[in-house]
Amino acid sequence: MAPGGIRINDFCAAFLALFFLRPLLACPEEHRLALLEFKSALVGEPVAAGPACVLDSWGGHRRADCCRWEGITCDHRRPERPVTGVAVPGCNTLREAAVAAALTPLLRIRTLRVLNLADNRLRGELPAGGTSLAGLPSLEELDLRRNSLSGGLSSEIGRLRSLRSLVLDENSLSGEIPPDIGELGGLRQLSLRQNQLSGGIPGSIVRLRELQILDLGNNSLSSEIPGEIGELANLSALCLGRNRLSGGIPETVRAMSRLRELRLGENLLSGEIPGWLFTIRTLEVLDLGSNSLTWRNGADMRTDCVLSWLSLRSCGISGELPRWLSRQTKLDFLDLGKNRINGSIPEWLAEIEIGGLILPENNLTGPLPSRMFQSQSLSVLDLSGNNLSGELPENIGNATAIIMLLLGGNNFSGAPPPSLSKIRRLMMLDLSKNRFSGDRFPRLDEEPFLSFVDLSSNRLSGEVPTSFGSEMKFLDLSENQFSGGLPRNLSSMPLLLHLDLHSNRISGQLPGTLAGIPTLRSLILRSNLFEGQIPAVISELPALQILDLSGNRFTGGIPPELGNLRGMIRAPSLSFAVRDVFTFDLASADVSVVLKGKLQKLERGNLDIYSTLDLSGNELSGEMPPSLGNLRALKLLNVSGNNLRGEIPAEIGDLESVETLDLSQNDLSGGVPQTFVRLRALAVLRLGGNRLAGPIPDGGQMSTMDETSFANNSGLCGSQIRVLCSRSQPPWKNPNQSHGEPWFFWRGVAVGYPVGLCLAISALYFVGVFGPTANPPPPRHRWGR
Ligand SMILES: *[C@@H]1O[C@H](CO)[C@@H](O)[C@H](O)[C@H]1NC(C)=O
Ligand SMILES: *[C@@H]1O[C@H](CO)[C@@H](O)[C@H](O)[C@H]1NC(C)=O
Ligand SMILES: *[C@@H]1O[C@H](CO)[C@@H](O)[C@H](O)[C@H]1NC(C)=O
Ligand SMILES: *[C@@H]1O[C@H](CO)[C@@H](O)[C@H](O)[C@H]1NC(C)=O
Ligand SMILES: *[C@@H]1O[C@H](CO)[C@@H](O)[C@H](O)[C@H]1NC(C)=O
Ligand SMILES: *[C@@H]1O[C@H](CO)[C@@H](O)[C@H](O)[C@H]1NC(C)=O
Ligand SMILES: *[C@@H]1O[C@H](CO)[C@@H](O)[C@H](O)[C@H]1NC(C)=O
Ligand SMILES: *[C@@H]1O[C@H](CO)[C@@H](O)[C@H](O)[C@H]1NC(C)=O
Ligand SMILES: *[C@@H]1O[C@H](CO)[C@@H](O)[C@H](O)[C@H]1NC(C)=O
Ligand SMILES: *[C@@H]1O[C@H](CO)[C@@H](O)[C@H](O)[C@H]1NC(C)=O
Repeated sequence: MAPGGIRINDFCAAFLALFFLRPLLACPEEHRLALLEFKSALVGEPVAAGPACVLDSWGGHRRADCCRWEGITCDHRRPERPVTGVAVPGCNTLREAAVAAALTPLLRIRTLRVLNLADNRLRGELPAGGTSLAGLPSLEELDLRRNSLSGGLSSEIGRLRSLRSLVLDENSLSGEIPPDIGELGGLRQLSLRQNQLSGGIPGSIVRLRELQILDLGNNSLSSEIPGEIGELANLSALCLGRNRLSGGIPETVRAMSRLRELRLGENLLSGEIPGWLFTIRTLEVLDLGSNSLTWRNGADMRTDCVLSWLSLRSCGISGELPRWLSRQTKLDFLDLGKNRINGSIPEWLAEIEIGGLILPENNLTGPLPSRMFQSQSLSVLDLSGNNLSGELPENIGNATAIIMLLLGGNNFSGAPPPSLSKIRRLMMLDLSKNRFSGDRFPRLDEEPFLSFVDLSSNRLSGEVPTSFGSEMKFLDLSENQFSGGLPRNLSSMPLLLHLDLHSNRISGQLPGTLAGIPTLRSLILRSNLFEGQIPAVISELPALQILDLSGNRFTGGIPPELGNLRGMIRAPSLSFAVRDVFTFDLASADVSVVLKGKLQKLERGNLDIYSTLDLSGNELSGEMPPSLGNLRALKLLNVSGNNLRGEIPAEIGDLESVETLDLSQNDLSGGVPQTFVRLRALAVLRLGGNRLAGPIPDGGQMSTMDETSFANNSGLCGSQIRVLCSRSQPPWKNPNQSHGEPWFFWRGVAVGYPVGLCLAISALYFVGVFGPTANPPPPRHRWGR
């Protein structure tokens, strides 16, 4: 045949294809239909995809060729152009979709090699049997991370022999990892992080010789790390943190010559931390913190690795900060918290341009080197709970990148340096429990992100500082020597949730402007010198759940408007976790633990479970307003030590959540209201030191009270105080009791006592340990117990 003839034949074929066989250029029809079916299973009909979703480009009569839809890949080398990839992450944001329904149509595309349905609110179990993913023989990459998948991983997963990457992070998968996973010989990435997988790490995993990334972190895996794990010679990331793994670090890890990242933190590992770990040249990230590991390596041990991230939190390191760290000049994050490190902070540490330096709960002494603050990379500095002393360096504000400065629980003294106000990125400042003094706290009102300031338990004096910027959420100035009046411009912090000024010398009247902070959840002004009337406008604070005005000199009556405090009528169900307040991501789980730990105080003394009204120890007079009975969510009401007169309103019996009720040391008269038997949660009742008379109601929790609840009144009688009521006293209304029967036979005593005991214990738990009550809890370290 002549060469020209061939050319003409080719041209004709192309011509014919273009004009007559055009539909053939489209993707296979059954793939197109399967994709459309998948689309409607995922986002529903009519299509309600999330914003900017690639699914918008799917379908429509002018878009017959599904290979041209976004997120779709086809094999253009094959004439029928089969679909080989579907990648539509984050398309379904509006409602949950069943994973089985979404996957079933896709199983008809047997040429599929890549399937990425991450972030699609897929719910339910991965289909098994005839409709399982095993029906996709060519599948190489499967990514279903951040959905709501539940149930277990079936052993059929082992049939996906072509799989190179399996990512199921952040779902709710449970059960064990099937040993069949070892069949996936080509797997390079296996990521099952943040599920609820339990059982052991299957030994078969060491057959995955091509594996580069193995991430099983944040599950409930127990057992030991398989000894042969080191046979995974290509592994660069081994992440098993946050599980319940026990045993030691296998010796074979030493052979992993490509290991970059080793995360084993927050497990139950024991034994010594081997020095050879630091000779793995490729190692950059090492997290062994929060295990039961011990440290016996010398201060000058050999290191060949160049670490950027190191956590040896709670590893029993003692002595001075180990010298070998001075050679780790690339270190960006160092967590050696909760060890027994002593000595001072060495100059060489200050010279490493470190981003996060986390050394809380050690025994470091001496001053803070000023060299540390010439750094422009320092963003988190946590030295709380040490024994550091001296003044803070003048140049602290040169480190303008600091986000969190946590120096609480040391022995620092002197005035906080004015340069603090230069740290514009500051979000959290904790200087609590030191010996800081001075009457002029630096202005921090140009810090746009500042939201947490704790200056409690120092010797700061002068006027109450209020210049903190408008993002403030948490302000604790308690246990200092602040004096003068409460500034009227507190309301320039319109997002404040928690204001604690207790145990200062603040005087004058409470400004009504407090009502201008609508977000306020707790207002603690205990033990100051406030006087005048309690302003009724406080009742306009819609979120207020904790109001503690005890130990002041307030006069006048209890404003009946307090009965309108909405946060005490129904505690908001919205959980207030400090995590919500501090939403920045430091790409470091451990720092968020620091945060959580720090804010235990808030999270636990929890605004969510706690609602208290404490007006005790003032000079309040008049009668108790019946409206207080509205405060159904209240757990503690304390008005003791005032000059309240008149009868106890029967409405107090409506406080259905109240656990602690203290009306003692007043001038109350009349009887104990019969309605008190309705106080189902009552555990601590104090009515002593009044002029109450008549029978004490019996029944419910009232039967569990004893003399201490009623001492020093004028004429009470009843079983609780072992005083028989005389005939002349009004009869008690108790259906359980037949007339004339002596009080000590009453059955309710036996029933009521255990209930009362349990409640009393739980009340102690809340009030004594967690609760912000009249007695401040003992100073606790950040990570608590
Ligand atoms: C660990 O997983 C749980 C849910 O399984 C999740 O709530 C938690 O935030 C995860 N923690 C981290 C640090 O990822
Ligand atoms: C590891 O990776 C190298 C190169 O990336 C590759 O040649 C080798 O086959 C892989 N597998 C093993 C078991 O080393
Ligand atoms: C630091 O701790 C080590 C070991 O616990 C001890 O031998 C040493 O005396 C301590 N140094 C100081 C200054 O307390
Ligand atoms: C800290 O060191 C001092 C002596 O410098 C010692 O008395 C104290 O017990 C140490 N504290 C801890 C927790 O190791
Ligand atoms: C703190 O250090 C001082 C010495 O600077 C020492 O006298 C004191 O005992 C230490 N306190 C604690 C609690 O370790
Ligand atoms: C650091 O702070 C000191 C004192 O606040 C100041 O004199 C100095 O100029 C600052 N240095 C730099 C580099 O900003
Ligand atoms: C704080 O330092 C002073 C000396 O500067 C010392 O007398 C005192 O014991 C230290 N306090 C604590 C709790 O270590
Ligand atoms: C509040 O008023 C005081 C003076 O009364 C002032 O120094 C302070 O800057 C004010 N605070 C704010 C946040 O405006
Ligand atoms: C009520 O307040 C007084 C004074 O503040 C305090 O002594 C008492 O313990 C409180 N009562 C209860 C039950 O906590
Ligand atoms: C009762 O009065 C006595 C004597 O005044 C006093 O010691 C005791 O503490 C009082 N008890 C109560 C509960 O008020």
